[in-house]
Amino acid sequence: MTSAKIIIDKNEYEFPLITGTEQERAIDISSLYAQTGCITLDNGFQNTGACASAITYIDGDKGILRYRGFDITELAEKLTFVETAYLLIYGTLPTIDQKSVFSRHLTENSMLHEDMTHYFVGMPPHAHPMAILCAMVNSLSIFYPHSFIDDDNPAVFDLIAARLISMIRTIAAFSYKKSIGEPFVYPRHDLRYCMNFLNMMFSSPVKPYECDQEAERVLNKLLILHADHEQNCSTSTVRLVGSSMVNLYASVCAGICALWGPLHGGANQEVIEMLEDIHRKGHSVQDVIAMAKDKNNSFRLFGFGHRVYKNYDPRAKILKDACSSFLSGRSMNDPLLDIALELEELVLRDEYFIERKLYPNVDFYSGILYRALGIPASMFTVMFAIGRMPGWIAQWREMHDTKPFRIGRPRQVYVGSAHRSLP
Ligand code: ACO
Repeated sequence: MTSAKIIIDKNEYEFPLITGTEQERAIDISSLYAQTGCITLDNGFQNTGACASAITYIDGDKGILRYRGFDITELAEKLTFVETAYLLIYGTLPTIDQKSVFSRHLTENSMLHEDMTHYFVGMPPHAHPMAILCAMVNSLSIFYPHSFIDDDNPAVFDLIAARLISMIRTIAAFSYKKSIGEPFVYPRHDLRYCMNFLNMMFSSPVKPYECDQEAERVLNKLLILHADHEQNCSTSTVRLVGSSMVNLYASVCAGICALWGPLHGGANQEVIEMLEDIHRKGHSVQDVIAMAKDKNNSFRLFGFGHRVYKNYDPRAKILKDACSSFLSGRSMNDPLLDIALELEELVLRDEYFIERKLYPNVDFYSGILYRALGIPASMFTVMFAIGRMPGWIAQWREMHDTKPFRIGRPRQVYVGSAHRSLP
């Protein structure tokens, strides 16, 4: 079948049926309004494909996630975050030369303009790191105003992409140092991406950071798992904002704001706070589950449920295993991991969650690993944003290169007052 028919008031209209690589099907309704005078209405975009994309594939029923065709489990096992970023943005695995040029770009663009560091001074120490991140990423368009995309010069895009991936890491580490009242540690040219971040976070004038390769491996894995997830809330935001032809810094900044919300990337902080509450206040896991099921209570079990996954989120599976092996490798015992495991076990046996196909998502176990790395809960969503940066950039570029190019502009069904006159 290559077309779909819609019947309105006994009139029949035909629309092309589009088939994706994995045989998923979509009705192309771009001519619907012109043909019928009707629009579609889809609250929360549950059935609306906003674009055709060649970047990430998800099968939510089977729990499959692939970047550019490669399975997430294999990528998390064998690649670094920097290689994954290249794959997402440029569509192929980098050759040795491409990797070295890309890494050099990241290294050369890791330092913030020194004047930007003064911004941190005026920020209150209790400022949420996500608020600082939004402000500082947007500030990049103040400091680098001449580097907007030039279709005739792809090197400009390469520079901006490298700058964003590299500088978000420096901004994140500086905002942490600001929050604990320690001097900034500048990026180093001799350290790899993740080790450089750990060094900026944990070195201090009184105690240098001792390079920890296992921590570096775990951080690479975490960032790879967060690197893209097709048309979620923040990525759709980046595409929509970017479709006005505003610069990449501003588009990505909008994505960071969208990510912050507790129903999206902000859930990782909520999960840890929920587990801490259970631990500290002595709530039972059963009480928390009952609260999440109570329709008179707005509380949700953070780290469970997903719009697309109606099966175990493959990222959560990888992170659950990584939590156990990283903690046991260091003889660390985190009571929050025990609570999380108990919570998951009960949830997966509970009719309410089974019926609604609610499984752990990426945010359920990531916080336990970040804690084990010494990263505080207030920084968790910032870590997510560092990981997601290559995905946002790749999606922005794909949107930008789509022909014919169109600004994103949904419609509405107006349900307000009919025309009336002032008294
Ligand atoms: N706890 C309790 N009930 C839940 C949960 C949850 N975590 N998630 C969904 N439900 C229930 C809803 O109440 C609803 O029940 P109903 O049919 O009786 O009304 C049903 O399951 C369907 O939920 P929706 O909200 O319609 O699902 P939607 O696809 O719109 O939302 C979302 C997905 C936002 C992720 C939701 O599952 C949720 O709020 N989860 C908790 C927050 C979270 O972990 N977010 C991170 C997601 S991953 C990411 O963004 C990186």
